Amino acid sequence: MAGTTWRALLLLGVVLTAQLCGCTAYVGDGFSAEFIHRDSAKSPLHDPSLTPHGRVLAAVRRSAARSYTVGDPTGGVAEIRSSPYEYLMYVNIGTPRTRMLAIVNTGSNLVSFKCINGTSGPPPAAGAAPLSYVFDTSSSSSYGLVACRLPSCHAVQGTSCDANSICQYHLSYGDGSTRDGILSTETFTFDDAPGGCVGCRERPQLQVTRVNFGCDTNTTGGNPFLLAGNVGLGAGNISLINQIGGATSLGRRFSYCLAPFSVNASSIINFGARAAVTEPGAVTTPLIPSAVDAFYTILLTSVKIGNKAIVPAKRSPVVVDSGTALTFLDKALLDAIVEELTKSIKLQRKQSPEKLLDLCYEVGGTIQDWVLEKLFPEVTLGFGGGAVITLKAKNAFVQAQPGTVCLAMSAATDNVAVIGNIAQQNFHVGFDLDKGSITFAAADCASSYPSPPAPVSL
Ligand SMILES: *[C@@H]1O[C@H](CO)[C@@H](O)[C@H](O)[C@H]1NC(C)=O
Ligand SMILES: *[C@@H]1O[C@H](CO)[C@@H](O)[C@H](O)[C@H]1NC(C)=O
Ligand SMILES: *[C@@H]1O[C@H](CO)[C@@H](O)[C@H](O)[C@H]1NC(C)=O
Ligand SMILES: *[C@@H]1O[C@H](CO)[C@@H](O)[C@H](O)[C@H]1NC(C)=O
Repeated sequence: MAGTTWRALLLLGVVLTAQLCGCTAYVGDGFSAEFIHRDSAKSPLHDPSLTPHGRVLAAVRRSAARSYTVGDPTGGVAEIRSSPYEYLMYVNIGTPRTRMLAIVNTGSNLVSFKCINGTSGPPPAAGAAPLSYVFDTSSSSSYGLVACRLPSCHAVQGTSCDANSICQYHLSYGDGSTRDGILSTETFTFDDAPGGCVGCRERPQLQVTRVNFGCDTNTTGGNPFLLAGNVGLGAGNISLINQIGGATSLGRRFSYCLAPFSVNASSIINFGARAAVTEPGAVTTPLIPSAVDAFYTILLTSVKIGNKAIVPAKRSPVVVDSGTALTFLDKALLDAIVEELTKSIKLQRKQSPEKLLDLCYEVGGTIQDWVLEKLFPEVTLGFGGGAVITLKAKNAFVQAQPGTVCLAMSAATDNVAVIGNIAQQNFHVGFDLDKGSITFAAADCASSYPSPPAPVSL
């Protein structure tokens, strides 16, 4: 008995030592980061005066501002992006590292930060990783420029050669904002989420050297915060996911698990093996070619409400994006869905508080999720390859005001149909460019972001 205890302790000691030693430089199975909703208390955009309903309505309104600009006849437009942003993450760049908070954009490719050269005031204290919205290129020993003849320069749209044959870009967007900068390289360091590695003394981290990114030197228009830092996770060559996959053994894949707006919990984004979606009931659908190389596009083959299946009259590609709250569908398909829903929902119709929301009902006051599930039907989506996911009532409907529940879907006016982030909440969604697929599995995303482990006491 005493021998068994001793052996158990010895084993525990070996395991702990292995973890303490193996965790500081490289995370074998990948890494995870907090995926910060822009309205959450952890975001600098947090507005404490907004009620939970107000937050939902604000996200719905931002969906209206989306713009998927596919080139501009005047020739100036390049990078395409959806203009509303919903999630942020921390990225460390440079040597020593500067901690940057950036918008995560699953619908665009370029990683970019606002840069200055040598005018940022005193350098950060040794060992500290200060949070910043500008990156001082002169403070980093690993900063590099990209020659305009290199393939990475050609992988970014809107580039040209400057007088020194350095790759420069000029980008303009649907909302009128512009950015000029120089394509650059830096060392990126990704901290693993606290608690991601039990027993680690330091937070494990992954370092990737010579990551191509845009150093913005002049931005105009738009929200200055939103222009400060962007992590493009799109499907194109220059996106961060392609660069991580090319430089490490982690693969060209990531996944996220979005916590519902109604709970006070962090969402998570995973890279490497942790991006594998292996929960029971996981379904996989192939990515299909997209008009915009950044988009993760899949085929929507059917929508089912109760026992009634609606098959789109024409081929229906849909983009899976985290940057838009609402789901946007082809008008004819949406009309058929609305018609079916109005037959099955036995509640009083109500005036919509927002023009993007067509179908609203009176529910008498703020209701719990389980009541919502009783009053509103599930909506089942069928995708290419036979994958089927079931949207619970709270993925298909939103409580936009106390007492008002609306369908969280709208008509795509620009021919780009999108599965928005309300529909994706409480799904673990894996994007895999190596396999060319997206995998969905129902999950409890409110508990996906690990809290720091209790200190180990021996
Ligand atoms: C930053 O400024 C220094 C000194 O003025 C200069 O040598 C360096 O080339 C500049 N770097 C960039 C990226 O402009
Ligand atoms: C992306 O990379 C592939 C493989 O390296 C290459 O064949 C293709 O031309 C690249 N596309 C763009 C737009 O640069
Ligand atoms: C910044 O960009 C705007 C729009 O392209 C341009 O009008 C302005 O002159 C630029 N400013 C500088 C300092 O280059
Ligand atoms: C949300 O959770 C954080 C800790 O995770 C806590 O500090 C904060 O007070 C909570 N906010 C609300 C509104 O419950």
